Amino acid sequence: MTETTSKAQPSIVDFADKDIFPFLEQLRSQGSPVWDEKAQAWLVLDYDQCVEAEATEEVFGNVYMNADPILERLKGGKANITFSQGAEHARLRKFHLALLAAPPVESYRVNHVRPIIDFALDRIVDRGRADLMQDLAAQIVPRVICSLMGIPWEDDAKVARILELNDAILRFVGANYQGDDLREKALAASGELNQMLLPYIRERRENPTEDFISRVWLEAPTEYGDDLTEADAVAICRELYFAASDTTIHGTANALYLLLTDPAIRERVHADRGKALKSLVEEGLRLYNVVQLRHRLARMDTQLGGQTIRQGEMILLVHAAANRDPAHYECPAHADLDRKMAADHLAFGRGPRSCVGAQLARVEMREILGSVLDRLPNVRLDPDAEPPRFSGFYIRSHQPLNVVWDS
Ligand code: HEM
Repeated sequence: MTETTSKAQPSIVDFADKDIFPFLEQLRSQGSPVWDEKAQAWLVLDYDQCVEAEATEEVFGNVYMNADPILERLKGGKANITFSQGAEHARLRKFHLALLAAPPVESYRVNHVRPIIDFALDRIVDRGRADLMQDLAAQIVPRVICSLMGIPWEDDAKVARILELNDAILRFVGANYQGDDLREKALAASGELNQMLLPYIRERRENPTEDFISRVWLEAPTEYGDDLTEADAVAICRELYFAASDTTIHGTANALYLLLTDPAIRERVHADRGKALKSLVEEGLRLYNVVQLRHRLARMDTQLGGQTIRQGEMILLVHAAANRDPAHYECPAHADLDRKMAADHLAFGRGPRSCVGAQLARVEMREILGSVLDRLPNVRLDPDAEPPRFSGFYIRSHQPLNVVWDS
């Protein structure tokens, strides 16, 4: 880093509970990448630079390449896709892409997503008020992934426990893997999640059906070789669960926020559940960008945006800033349902590590939003309840989403 860029200035890590966008725009005016002393990382704010860095894993490696045993335990084991590198990652990714490709996702929509949305809405529809974050998004998404894995999704106690365990892990991740107490709780939560999964993993090995766990047993070994172990199956399923849950819950919350706060958008989506609804989901992802940033480690001395990055230095791909890059988007801070290439944002990342579950996430979000409009007449933010706040560091969303409707 240079002398000029290392001078004390606010850090991105101080903005978990503050409005982050003015800070990102002020940083952008200094160029990109910008060194953040407190984060000990280069912040990459520019859209093209993010795409460039994410395309070249041999230059900017995935941050889990040097994962320690604690992190491996936390994420369910070594066979978790995020730890794999090179050819092994490509093989494992091929399996995930087949599992989550458009044709199977359409059958997941019909057989898993729709019934669970109806179930969750049936529970609240007569109440006339709810927090759409806790009472809807957080109820639907984890049940969908349970259902896809063949785990009883109607079991309230089990779903609530899974959410608690996931939260314990996320609290430690959110604290940048610091704190003895948080670490112990996160490791205990990870162990309990493994134990919860294990009976299903064992059962499906003997009696495969069509669910995700069965497909891990039936298809992942042909990608790996024949030596997939029980521990490998646990690790693969743990990442599928982890990556699919909070991301989609909070992404749904952000799209709902846009729907509830922009009357013109709402009117268009009400009238058009095709293109307008699709664009709303993409603009929610672009503007509010659930996963605000991703880490990479420089594997060699290199240049990015005219800046020298030294081997071993960390870069933070700040997708929250890249998705509002004025060099890439007209009126970047404005939600525009007519935006051309609406889906070219970086909310799902780009390149060899990009999200394999993007199709499923989009389908879930569209279905939830459409159903809210269909089943909660005149749904609107509750003026007498706590308003939404846009907060969180790594994952950020608008909550609570206290609404009322005409019942
Ligand atoms: C709104 C919802 C979602 C968002 C915003 C999101 C975002 C992301 C991002 C940004 C990455 C790239 C990480 C990186 O470059 O380091 C990623 C990777 C991944 N996502 Fe998602 N995701 C979502 C939903 C899902 C769902 C529903 C699934 C599975 C059913 C899933 C599975 C994965 C997996 C397995 C990876 C790792 C891919 C690899 O290492 O090659 N995600 N996701």
